Amino acid sequence: MKNEISFDAELAPESFQHHVPQDLKDRIALRIVKFMRVFADKFFAGRYGHRAVVLETVAAVPGMVGGLLQHLKALRHIRDDQGWIRELIEEADNERMHLMTFIKIAQPSRFERFLIAATQLVFYNLYFFLYLLAPRVAHRVVGYLEEEAVVSYTQYLEQIDAGNVENVAAPQIAKDYWKLPDNARLREVVIVIRADEAGHRDKNHEFANKIATGAHP
Ligand SMILES: [Fe+2]
Ligand SMILES: [Fe+2]
Repeated sequence: MKNEISFDAELAPESFQHHVPQDLKDRIALRIVKFMRVFADKFFAGRYGHRAVVLETVAAVPGMVGGLLQHLKALRHIRDDQGWIRELIEEADNERMHLMTFIKIAQPSRFERFLIAATQLVFYNLYFFLYLLAPRVAHRVVGYLEEEAVVSYTQYLEQIDAGNVENVAAPQIAKDYWKLPDNARLREVVIVIRADEAGHRDKNHEFANKIATGAHP
């Protein structure tokens, strides 16, 4: 299809911006993410649909936690949030739409559902306290997680292009949300989602930078 090419070029996250760790806090954030990636790679291997479903349930947590804590902080200090609250909650909502899309493509097994619940219990609480005590590290962790998400969705795309993953029709929910053409396939969906992840990556690194330089609310 011809429109696929321009579509690709528009949304390719070629500005692959890896944030080079600047100090110990950044290196800790990167280590945490690389450590988590090892488990995800081992557990899911080549099952990209399942990987997306499970990991998107995790990805939708930090924005809501960050939004909540920034909201409480703005109330406490009675001052403007510089748009951070809305930005973070929108990130969480966008991640939830990724989940709602992939659930149409792969259904989690009973064990994966258990894993989702157990991970949420642990991750929500860990991230809450991380954000409370070290918001800069928390945003940096998400920045690095999103770097990995871009890598994973690029691999997913390569598998679709290689014919190893069936390029099924795009779910209706995805066509509505991203305003995709009626004949859109999984390939287009993965491209727009990858572009979302690149956006979250840049935003979270920017938030971490702002906290580091004191330019935050
Ligand atoms: Fe996502
Ligand atoms: Fe994401």
